[in-house]
Amino acid sequence: MILLRKVRVFSLFILSHYAVKFCIGGDIITASEYIQDPGSIISSGGLYKLGFFSPNGTTNRYVGIWHNKIPALNVFWVANREKPVLDSSGVMTISNDGNLVILNGKKEVLWSSNVSTSGANAKAHLLDTGNLILQKQSSNMSTNDTTAWESFQTMCDTFIAKMKLSTNLRTNEKKVLTSWKSPSDPSIGSFSISLEPLNIPEVFLWNGTTLYWRSGPWNGKVFIGIPEMESVYLDGFTLVDDKEGYVYLTYNFAEVSYFSYFFVRSNGELLQPFWDEKYKKWRIDWSTQASDCDVYGKCGPFGYCDAKKSPICSCLRGYEPKKVEEWSRGNWSSGCIQKSLLQCARLKNGSTKAGKIDGFVKLENVKVPNYAIWSSPLEDKCQEQCLSNCSCAAYAYDAGVGCMYWSGDLIDVRKFSYAGTTLYVRVAHTELEGKRDLRAIIATAAVVATVIFSIGTFFAWQKSKKRGGKDGEQFSKASSENMLRGSLSKVNLQELVLYKLEELAAATSNFSDANKLGEGGFGAVYRGRLLNGKEIAVKRLSGASGQGLREFINEMEVISKVQHRNLVRLLGCCAEQDEKLLIYEFMPNKGLDAFLFGNIPFLVVFRPSIMEYQFMGKSSF
Ligand SMILES: *[C@@H]1O[C@H](CO)[C@@H](O)[C@H](O)[C@H]1NC(C)=O
Ligand SMILES: *[C@@H]1O[C@H](CO)[C@@H](O)[C@H](O)[C@H]1NC(C)=O
Ligand SMILES: *[C@@H]1O[C@H](CO)[C@@H](O)[C@H](O)[C@H]1NC(C)=O
Ligand SMILES: *[C@@H]1O[C@H](CO)[C@@H](O)[C@H](O)[C@H]1NC(C)=O
Ligand SMILES: *[C@@H]1O[C@H](CO)[C@@H](O)[C@H](O)[C@H]1NC(C)=O
Ligand SMILES: *[C@@H]1O[C@H](CO)[C@@H](O)[C@H](O)[C@H]1NC(C)=O
Ligand SMILES: *[C@@H]1O[C@H](CO)[C@@H](O)[C@H](O)[C@H]1NC(C)=O
Ligand SMILES: *[C@@H]1O[C@H](CO)[C@@H](O)[C@H](O)[C@H]1NC(C)=O
Repeated sequence: MILLRKVRVFSLFILSHYAVKFCIGGDIITASEYIQDPGSIISSGGLYKLGFFSPNGTTNRYVGIWHNKIPALNVFWVANREKPVLDSSGVMTISNDGNLVILNGKKEVLWSSNVSTSGANAKAHLLDTGNLILQKQSSNMSTNDTTAWESFQTMCDTFIAKMKLSTNLRTNEKKVLTSWKSPSDPSIGSFSISLEPLNIPEVFLWNGTTLYWRSGPWNGKVFIGIPEMESVYLDGFTLVDDKEGYVYLTYNFAEVSYFSYFFVRSNGELLQPFWDEKYKKWRIDWSTQASDCDVYGKCGPFGYCDAKKSPICSCLRGYEPKKVEEWSRGNWSSGCIQKSLLQCARLKNGSTKAGKIDGFVKLENVKVPNYAIWSSPLEDKCQEQCLSNCSCAAYAYDAGVGCMYWSGDLIDVRKFSYAGTTLYVRVAHTELEGKRDLRAIIATAAVVATVIFSIGTFFAWQKSKKRGGKDGEQFSKASSENMLRGSLSKVNLQELVLYKLEELAAATSNFSDANKLGEGGFGAVYRGRLLNGKEIAVKRLSGASGQGLREFINEMEVISKVQHRNLVRLLGCCAEQDEKLLIYEFMPNKGLDAFLFGNIPFLVVFRPSIMEYQFMGKSSF
């Protein structure tokens, strides 16, 4: 036994000795193997490079990390942001106290990893994830080196895969992103991005101490205020909450060859560039400055923003501009006020008869207001709970969250053309009565339209019957297919396949639970196999989402633009019998599905009560 162990220790020694030798000048920095401007080290897989660089427009020297395989320099991490080396005499090495340091020609310390736990024999190691770690070498063969410091823990302006945006309420520690001051100055600028452990966590982008943009609440899969996330069938984001004050957000892509990241520009824009291998250039996938509606609270309290409308701001139903003249000039900052008092307020104001109880008006596909209060996991409790609390101004339900309600100002409501959730705004009963009249008009119009359409269809059918003897069912099927095909070609999606519902039902064993991969606000995703053997993932949009054909096509257009984000290729669609389905390429084993439902502790969510009810089922994947 003893001999055996000795042999093992010996061979281990040889191995590590070789490994170290092999790595010298490769991916590590030690006291003797330092880097001197313009030197650099490269991670073992060749993906990332650490070295000296100058931003565009300055000769100052900084140490940064960038992607090594992609030609355009995109530094995502900078060590000495605040103190550049003013000439080319800079050195990055390990100091006597075991810290990673940057020295100038006069041996002045411009930057230090500044940790006390690292002793002698420390070494810095650039990993293939892009993380630079400082390891305290163990003098004991049977214990591993310990990581004393890592660059992923001191993020700059860029969020790359496997980084963690976190907040720890116990230690009051926040790992945030901070913008550069300007494109030529990496020092800390005025914009920052943090994960806020609100009742329901979300991401905030700050301009100093002013909220500038928000993601909307995390629903276990996506942020409710980012519809682009909802378009793809599964996303690589994970939010973990240990329920004791520590929350973090991280993401990963199933395929390492795909390279994309998030970064906050010095002008406050949060964007997601990705490397387009085909055209060999960076392209912007998503940005928080795509529309004026992205600015936090653009339309003031009780207003909502719709980028497709002109003007973009409107008051929520039951509300009117607080300052009409100001509002009409396009200064929406004062927002809107209630037209009629709610029941509680009527009682409070001394009215003896409170009249009828309040009701709710719906606003679909919205980014919900800021500062949601969580109330119940059960959908049928939402309305009741809102009505029973005088301070409740609106509520919403999301399958991933449960009931949310808001008291006080409803701020930063935004309407999207798809995704988002439905907001129910509380209004006095008098406001509802107006609605009923409108409903009657719409209903009448709908009846008239239906009659006209039926007559038209009947004659068309008669005609087609005379021509080709097709039966009626076939005719209507063919026409809806033609309509879909026509619409797809208009938005350049004609390469998509139109699948038949029966074909998809067969492929997924009739949408059986056994084939279900997951479920979100949009509906469920099933795994399936077509007759030709091809594996697919089928997203069955829930009927409740009330999507029309046009929204459906819009969504496909968006997906086809953003699908590279998650590397899930959209193959086609199906719209039959009130069913709307999207068909994606299935990610093979160890792909997205394994990654999402496999070994990573998936979705530990903010409240024990929510977690129990929503995510119980996931553990079986
Ligand atoms: C550097 O700055 C110049 C002038 O501002 C600009 O034309 C050029 O595109 C910039 N280069 C990079 C790599 O950003
Ligand atoms: C180093 O860390 C100590 C405490 O951990 C802190 O007081 C000091 O300001 C830090 N120094 C620098 C240069 O960041
Ligand atoms: C090495 O580590 C092992 C396990 O932690 C411990 O049992 C042993 O005593 C250590 N030996 C020395 C020489 O520190
Ligand atoms: C040392 O590292 C190896 C490989 O990462 C790991 O499997 C092992 O559990 C570690 N041992 C200790 C004592 O942390
Ligand atoms: C950020 O805040 C500063 C100071 O309050 C202001 O001057 C600047 O215009 C703001 N930037 C944006 C993009 O809103
Ligand atoms: C908009 O209105 C607010 C409040 O009345 C005022 O403080 C602000 O200066 C106005 N902004 C502009 C651009 O006129
Ligand atoms: C409250 O009632 C008084 C009369 O009873 C009325 O003048 C006042 O406008 C009411 N307040 C509001 C906010 O409507
Ligand atoms: C009503 O909502 C407010 C604001 O969230 C809360 O403080 C209060 O406890 C609620 N009241 C009831 C009876 O639930």
